[in-house]
Amino acid sequence: MTALLRTEGVRKAYGGVHALDSCTVEVEEGSVAGLIGPNGSGKTTLFNVITGYAKADEGHVYLGDRPITNVAPDRVFALGIGRTFQLTRIFASLTVLENMLVASPNGRAAARRRAMEQLEFVGIAGHHAALAGTLSYGQRKLLELAYVLVADPAVILLDEPAGGVNLSLVNTIADRIRELNASGKTFLIVEHNMEFVMGLCDRVTVLDSGAVVAAGPPAIIRTDRRVLNAYLGEDLAEDDPHPGQQSVEQP
Ligand SMILES: Nc1ncnc2c1ncn2[C@@H]1O[C@H](COP(=O)(O)OP(=O)(O)O)[C@@H](O)[C@H]1O
Ligand SMILES: [Mg+2]
Repeated sequence: MTALLRTEGVRKAYGGVHALDSCTVEVEEGSVAGLIGPNGSGKTTLFNVITGYAKADEGHVYLGDRPITNVAPDRVFALGIGRTFQLTRIFASLTVLENMLVASPNGRAAARRRAMEQLEFVGIAGHHAALAGTLSYGQRKLLELAYVLVADPAVILLDEPAGGVNLSLVNTIADRIRELNASGKTFLIVEHNMEFVMGLCDRVTVLDSGAVVAAGPPAIIRTDRRVLNAYLGEDLAEDDPHPGQQSVEQP
């Protein structure tokens, strides 16, 4: 077992807030890893540190043997780590296909073909000419996933892919993750929907106040005392944590 992605002792503070403290997380090659924890426990900050959107105060990030600590986002992406954002970052006033091509503005035929293939894969090719702003929340998440897939990253980080998404699209997203994983892609997924996490992940790491409090197979994590303590006072979200949040969000 080799860790394809590893953070080692990462610390990140915002003013007096310790967003991450000695945070060590390992993602095995070929696995689907989960990252859970209460709101504000540092999950998105860890994604930001891994992908260069936030600078670690201390600690290291490795892709395989390669140190990638505090490497710039476009470079991290080029090295093979793709990510989506908790609040999707699509351009509402561009079409779905145009969103796919923002990184290749000359619109070469090959780029368009690859873009359409990925839109087919996630099931929204029929909407390629629609303005992205008209997509539902779940379809926007699928668009972001398609965009990330064009670069063929080895590791894909998904920040709350099922949050606010209706059930049928949640199942679509889970199916696509399984297929991609079967074809060799490694995942690290932040998600509040426990059914989604427990159904997909080989291993789950639990953060509380920026520190890892538990890590292991989903069945064990689910009943771990430290995990239940971390979630005390919060809903261990079996249900949709964002009811009513469907399609209104600006990029
Ligand atoms: N850019 C930032 N500026 C200031 N504080 C931040 C910033 N990003 C995150 N934080 C703080 O760091 C903590 C962890 O946040 P976050 O990583 O978003 O948690 P999670 O994704 O687990 O909900 C929170 O207390 C949050 O308010
Ligand atoms: Mg978050």
